[in-house]
Amino acid sequence: MSRVAYVNGAYVSMDQASVHIEDRGYQFSDGVYEVVSIRRGKCIDMEPHLDRLWRSMNELQIDEPMARGPMKVVMAETIRQNRLQDAILYIQVSRGVARRDHPFPADTVSSLVMTCRRFNFDAVKERAKTGIKVISQPDVRWGRCDIKSISLLPNVLAKQAAREQGGFEALLIDADGYVTEGSSTNVWMVTSEGKLITRSTDDNILPGITRASILSIAGELQMPVEEHAFTLEEAKDATEMFLTSSTSCAMPITHIDSQAIGNGKPGPIVARLVEQYWAMMDEAV
Ligand code: PDD
Repeated sequence: MSRVAYVNGAYVSMDQASVHIEDRGYQFSDGVYEVVSIRRGKCIDMEPHLDRLWRSMNELQIDEPMARGPMKVVMAETIRQNRLQDAILYIQVSRGVARRDHPFPADTVSSLVMTCRRFNFDAVKERAKTGIKVISQPDVRWGRCDIKSISLLPNVLAKQAAREQGGFEALLIDADGYVTEGSSTNVWMVTSEGKLITRSTDDNILPGITRASILSIAGELQMPVEEHAFTLEEAKDATEMFLTSSTSCAMPITHIDSQAIGNGKPGPIVARLVEQYWAMMDEAV
């Protein structure tokens, strides 16, 4: 069965799905997006994802392509037409089509595209048992990383550098030596006293939906949490490290730049968070 995409009002097979060459998303990266996990046919954290999508649109003065209620109907229909149980749903809104000119066009209509593809969450769950290796890369992104913009070239280059060096993810390091986040993930460390530390969302990072879930799980487990920046050196000296995202869920980090974190294996605090996160994923039916 061929995949089905939603493109500006129509459900079309992927080989027919196309957008206008003067779409501002295509020419200026003038758009925003969301990636939503679908586990056993259900959207995980749909409302927070939509909250963030609306926030991103508002910050960039992009008009909503449709109201939130109809958007949920399109999401459900895109998932249904692709007949997928474990999947990721991609939602992209751009400012729309206009003759190429930098300022916002006066009378354009926002474009809305959704795609859905199979995603092996069981493999992610399995990978969390051994953890992943990451590398560090300079953070060369802009000053509004709180907006989930489709302008992702620095993230793409950092991820590619990671893959070329045998790493799963790149930790982005700011000019002062602090970890900001991963190229497509939020980053956490665990101190020797068992305290969780993750950078504040006031500090030019994406407010991750998975990050918010882990904060609430940590609260339920009465784990102490501090939200502030930490350096790459502190990360390498941490007792445990992990990252979070919709597609990686909660994932232990065992090595940074080939240096082992703790004993180079996932530790007990992160294992507990991973377990609780998956309990939430697998019960969200
Ligand atoms: N990335 N930080 C960045 C830069 C991200 O791109 C993402 C998500 C996250 C984690 O956010 P969340 O927990 O809401 O998925 C943090 C998605 C998965 C992507 O671009 O594919």
